[in-house]
Amino acid sequence: MTKPCAEKILVVDDAVDTLEVIRRNLMHVGHQVWTATSVQEAVKTLETKPFDIVITDFRMPKTSGLDLVRHVRENYKHMEIVMITGYASIPGAVTAMQTGAHEYLAKPFTDAELLDVVHRAAERIRRRTPFDAPVATSDHNWGLLGSSPAMQAVFRSIQKAAQSSATVLILGESGTGKELVARAIHYSSKRRAAAFVPVNCGGIPEGLLESELFGARKGAFTGAHESRAGFFQTADGGSIFLDEIAELSMTMQTVLLRVLQDKAVFMVGSRQPSKVDVRIIAATNKDVENLVSKGALREDLYYRINVIPITIPPLRERGEDIPLLIRHFSARYATELDKPAPQFTDRVLHNLQNYPWPGNVRELENVIQRLVLMAEGDSIDAADLPELMRFSAIQPESGLRSLADVQAEHICNVLNAVGGNKSQAARILGIDRKTLRDKFRSANA
Ligand SMILES: Nc1ncnc2c1ncn2[C@@H]1O[C@H](COP(=O)(O)OP(=O)(O)OP(=O)(O)O)[C@@H](O)[C@H]1O
Ligand SMILES: [Mg+2]
Repeated sequence: MTKPCAEKILVVDDAVDTLEVIRRNLMHVGHQVWTATSVQEAVKTLETKPFDIVITDFRMPKTSGLDLVRHVRENYKHMEIVMITGYASIPGAVTAMQTGAHEYLAKPFTDAELLDVVHRAAERIRRRTPFDAPVATSDHNWGLLGSSPAMQAVFRSIQKAAQSSATVLILGESGTGKELVARAIHYSSKRRAAAFVPVNCGGIPEGLLESELFGARKGAFTGAHESRAGFFQTADGGSIFLDEIAELSMTMQTVLLRVLQDKAVFMVGSRQPSKVDVRIIAATNKDVENLVSKGALREDLYYRINVIPITIPPLRERGEDIPLLIRHFSARYATELDKPAPQFTDRVLHNLQNYPWPGNVRELENVIQRLVLMAEGDSIDAADLPELMRFSAIQPESGLRSLADVQAEHICNVLNAVGGNKSQAARILGIDRKTLRDKFRSANA
């Protein structure tokens, strides 16, 4: 189990031996440490975990540590940054601080100096008030972007939720950012120093779920030679994210209801309840009221969970967020691919804003990633877009458009009109769902 004071730290340096020394020192005092040998690798690693502190070398062969500082400042506002340099010079330090590094460590440094700097960063994290950045802007909040009124309302709900430990239910279609919202709540709450534990309720076989969630005592079943902590014990003092809550069987729903009522869990094989202090954040992309009325979700569990509901609207209902997200993802993938960020023509922006995005932000992110990867020049034109997004791209002088063009536009219009419901759209279009799916697949191929 992680120590409550342990910080998640990413150390970036092209010198592998320096990395190793730093890693060992930090792990020795209980931190969790990951390493990367380049800015590109660091950018990728940052996406996999919610880090607290980034320690980066200044001079690295391909991309400078300053670029990483900028990237972290832009995308992960809450992270503390420590810049290391072998060329300790006042101008370098000034630039680093102006770019957003909090601390500066000159090589060679002693173990004590390193631990001191990290300790100060950890202290700042603990003292910081939730969301110290102004919220009512298009600012980055834990990697969540959105200037639309709908997203601003989501930010306010996150802030409110962060002030208590009440159970949260996050609703939203697939790819709308439910997990990001859950993380934002945890990392801006008082629980941030303890663990955030995501659990995909549909991804664990029914027979294992109980011991995975609540742990198992030694001897509980064959092969259980040691007592093992479950997700709830790991999340003690922190938050557990129960994703796809509707996938829980009726039996597990009953067990979970008891946990919520008693604030205690029973390890498999134990008759003694053990108290846990865990904040529950649940999510589903299903129509939750429909599930309750069908009897697939226990009504009493629904009421227990739905203390603070947060609904994330689908992307097609907040088109004003699209340019912001495009800029964000293209800058991110350009940095990752070590290319200049391409320009998007007005026409492209127009088409992307009018596309219904059934896969929401995740789909947009994938499309932008591919466009940046494939870009040859410095701008992206409508002709570069996937077929379904290319409608009206090339308006011939005669005004006579191609069948593919008209078809793509029509499909998008119908999908927009039925709120992204693909079955309904297919029915109206007179094609089967599979044909429609294939059209989207070719749009995202
Ligand atoms: N508002 C946003 N700003 C920036 N990135 C976002 C936003 N919303 C979603 N994303 C990105 O889109 C992707 C999908 O987000 P996430 O996994 O949180 O969605 P989800 O609602 O949990 O999806 P699913 O229901 O499929 O599990 C992630 O890569 C996430 O970083
Ligand atoms: Mg998810």
